[in-house]
Amino acid sequence: MANVYETGARFYDALSGERIIYRAGRERGVALLNLRPGDTVLDLGCGTGLNFDLLVRAVGPSGRVIGLDRSPQMLKVARRRLEVKGWSCVRLIEADAASFDPQQVADQLPADSGDRVDAVFSSYAMSVFDDWRPAWERMRAVLRPDGRAAIVDMQLPSGAARVFSPLVRFVTAVGGANLEARPWTVIERHAVDIQSSSLRGGHIRVVAGTIP
Ligand SMILES: C[S@@+](CC[C@H](N)C(=O)[O-])C[C@H]1O[C@@H](n2cnc3c(N)ncnc32)[C@H](O)[C@@H]1O
Repeated sequence: MANVYETGARFYDALSGERIIYRAGRERGVALLNLRPGDTVLDLGCGTGLNFDLLVRAVGPSGRVIGLDRSPQMLKVARRRLEVKGWSCVRLIEADAASFDPQQVADQLPADSGDRVDAVFSSYAMSVFDDWRPAWERMRAVLRPDGRAAIVDMQLPSGAARVFSPLVRFVTAVGGANLEARPWTVIERHAVDIQSSSLRGGHIRVVAGTIP
C-alpha cells in the first residue's frame, strides 16, 4: 500500500484533506514540541514536507530540520518545496524509518550540536508504517536525553463524529493507514511532562512528552 506514496506523490498535498482536517493536528503537534531557536528536530515519515514551515519557524535559521522518508517521489516534492521556500536549514534523508542508521541523522546535524536531535516528530506516518515499534526505537536512538517527542496520528472518530467513520475508513484505507495502530501510546507509556489533544471529533490524536 505504500506505493500510493510513490505513484501519488504529486497529488498528495492537494488530496490529503490538509486544510479542513489535518493541518490542525500538525500545528498542535509542533506547538507541543516546545522547540526553541537553534534546536534540531527529526520529522520521521516527512512525506512532501507539510510540517516544514511550522518546524522551520520554530527552530529558526540557526536550527536544523531533518526530514526522513523512504519514498523518493515524496522526497522529490519535499525538495522542490525547500528550493521554492529557500529553507537551507532543512535536510532530507531517504531511508526506511524502521532500519535507518542513527549516524545518517548525526551526519546532517550542525557541527556544534552533538550527534543527537533535540526533538523527534511524526505526523500521520507511523500508522502507515508496516510496524511503528522499530521506528520508535530509531527515534529514541537519535533523541538526546530529556528530548521532546510528539506523535500526531489517526483513529476512528468518537461520539457524535462517529457518523464520519465510513468516510474516515475509506480515506485512510487509500493511504494505507492502520486506524488501530495508535502509535502515540508509546509516548504515554515512556514520557514525562505529557501533553495531549484530540481533534476533529477524536479522529486526530496528538501526544507529546519528554523522554528521559
Ligand atoms: C500519510 S504520509 C504522511 C506524510 C507527512 N508526515 C504528513 O504529515 O503529511 C505517510 C508517509 O510515510 C512514508 N512511509 C511509509 N512507510 C515508511 C517507512 N517504513 N519508512 C519511512 N517512511 C515511510 C510514506 O512514504 C509517506 O510519505
